[in-house]
Amino acid sequence: MKPSEARIVLTGATGGIGRETAAAFIAAGSSVLLVGRSAAQLSALSRSIQSTAVGGAGRIAWQVADLGDATQMDELVGVAAEWRCNVLVHAAGVPCFGAFETADAETMRRVIDINLLAPMRLTQALLPHLRAQVRAQVICLGSALGRIGLPGFSIYSASKFGLRGFTEALRRELAGSGVRIQYVGPRSTRTSFNSAAVEAYNASTGTAMDSPNRVAQALLRSLHDETAERFIGFPERLAVRINGAVPTLLDGSFDKHRRSVPPPPTQGTLPTERDQPGIRPSINSSGATR
Ligand SMILES: NC(=O)c1ccc[n+]([C@@H]2O[C@H](COP(=O)([O-])OP(=O)(O)OC[C@H]3O[C@@H](n4cnc5c(N)ncnc54)[C@H](OP(=O)(O)O)[C@@H]3O)[C@@H](O)[C@H]2O)c1
Repeated sequence: MKPSEARIVLTGATGGIGRETAAAFIAAGSSVLLVGRSAAQLSALSRSIQSTAVGGAGRIAWQVADLGDATQMDELVGVAAEWRCNVLVHAAGVPCFGAFETADAETMRRVIDINLLAPMRLTQALLPHLRAQVRAQVICLGSALGRIGLPGFSIYSASKFGLRGFTEALRRELAGSGVRIQYVGPRSTRTSFNSAAVEAYNASTGTAMDSPNRVAQALLRSLHDETAERFIGFPERLAVRINGAVPTLLDGSFDKHRRSVPPPPTQGTLPTERDQPGIRPSINSSGATR
């Protein structure tokens, strides 16, 4: 839809990508309800965007909501409906990087909860309202890692593959309604989302990082042209296509990535009876994983 017709609810508004996206939407004439967990940050962001807004800029408001809290989610749904939201942008998310063996169950639960279940719940709760609009859009900010599974990102990829699957299925389910469901998949982006360990991984694997503004502009384009799926950057866009068509074709391409994941503390010790066939690390003479 035209940005000037959009009344957007933007989760993750206080994040590195969210801030740039909020500013880009407002500058394009959209009205935006910023959602985050910190009232102080939301209020400061709102003031800062308003102070630079020029003629034609949209309206701005904010709402505190922890998306892991059912009561706060319910309040957000009420506020979003009052705001007459016709576009929902899911940009909140949490990172997860490291050898799978080192992750605890609580981390897995939190990543799936915030990256996958929260957007699903919020979309479902707002769907009756969105259906009542002449036209509405739900844009899920996923990741290239929602199409390509990389060593070190098994849990994060599970959440973003899930989000992409949700987006694809719901888009098909709602085809013919006025509600368009979209997915935008950035590659690595320079925000505090990425730890020093991820930056080191990116450096050693030659993975490019984009500015958050590039992602914001892609989200703005997706709002306007309603593209079903948009991935950002080359060669990631090509890898996404190949991996989508024949995933195993790329299996041999990630040795450097595998070696760049900090090893679990037990790696290199003799296998125990708890080790599963097929996932036991093989150690070469230099101690590196093959
Ligand atoms: N940066 C990258 O390399 C990259 C690449 C591809 C995709 N993405 C995706 O892009 C999105 C934004 O990433 P970013 O780089 O902007 O990350 P970020 O700077 O860490 O921002 C994350 C945002 O999510 C919010 N959030 C986290 N947990 C929340 C919760 N329980 N309830 C409500 N909000 C919560 C944060 O709110 P608080 O300010 O309250 O913490 C913050 O606004 C994420 O979905 C991420 O998966 C990022």
